[in-house]
Amino acid sequence: MTLSSMIRSSKYVVVLTGAGMDTDSNIPDFRGKEGWWRNIDPRTVATIDSFHHNYSLFHQFYSMRLRMLDGITPHKGHYVLSELESKGLIKSIVTQNVAGLHKMAGSRKVYELHGNIRSIRCNSCNHTAAVENFLKKEHCKHCGNKALRPGVVLFGEMLPSDTWEAALKEVEKSDLLIVIGTSLEVYPVNQLPMMTKGKTVLINKQARGSEGLFDVIILGKAREVLEALDNSLAE
Ligand code: OAD
Repeated sequence: MTLSSMIRSSKYVVVLTGAGMDTDSNIPDFRGKEGWWRNIDPRTVATIDSFHHNYSLFHQFYSMRLRMLDGITPHKGHYVLSELESKGLIKSIVTQNVAGLHKMAGSRKVYELHGNIRSIRCNSCNHTAAVENFLKKEHCKHCGNKALRPGVVLFGEMLPSDTWEAALKEVEKSDLLIVIGTSLEVYPVNQLPMMTKGKTVLINKQARGSEGLFDVIILGKAREVLEALDNSLAE
């Protein structure tokens, strides 16, 4: 059965994306061949502990990631997903990605489980700030603490509970879950494919070991597979 026919014969299709969805927009992933965690130990820059005890390295890492997003735009695959939502063929997107490309491409029902990197806030008083304030290492204008951070989930922190619960409900309701570009190494998101009673499809650049979880595996790049899907739905 092809992906397009699976989508056509399903009533509630939910998509789960990871960093591999965004690499075709030139945002590196984490565990792929050129991923962040190949060169940097996440414990030193992406934990709540590193925020408290090694702010300078933490700040350097997230500043680099924020600067890399300048001029970055969604690719055709993001737009295909957004059009599928408009046509009622998919219901929502659950994502681990923090660059906001699904929303930028026009997708409306998006659950950003790991937050958004441009939503800067004070870790002490939660007051919001601009990306510029963070990049300049400024103190919070509201409480004065030097505690600005991007609104992403760090290792050692809980996922935002409202978003998690809403996303979980979507997955539980789904009769088809399409998982795109994730290594499924990070808890609790890696539990989601087991939470649907429906069919499961994995789209990934490489085979990676948890394929047994899925009814269908499509080896390929997110962008190309979604472009092909778009063409075949148009036929
Ligand atoms: P990973 O980097 O762990 O996995 C990305 C997967 O996408 C890999 O299996 C790649 O082979 C695959 N991939 C890369 N480019 C692709 C492409 N163009 N098309 C299809 N597949 C492609 O990223 P995530 O699973 O999203 O969390 O990582 C999960 C979490 O770990 C992230 O949200 C981040 C990270 O640490 C935090 O920082 C809390």
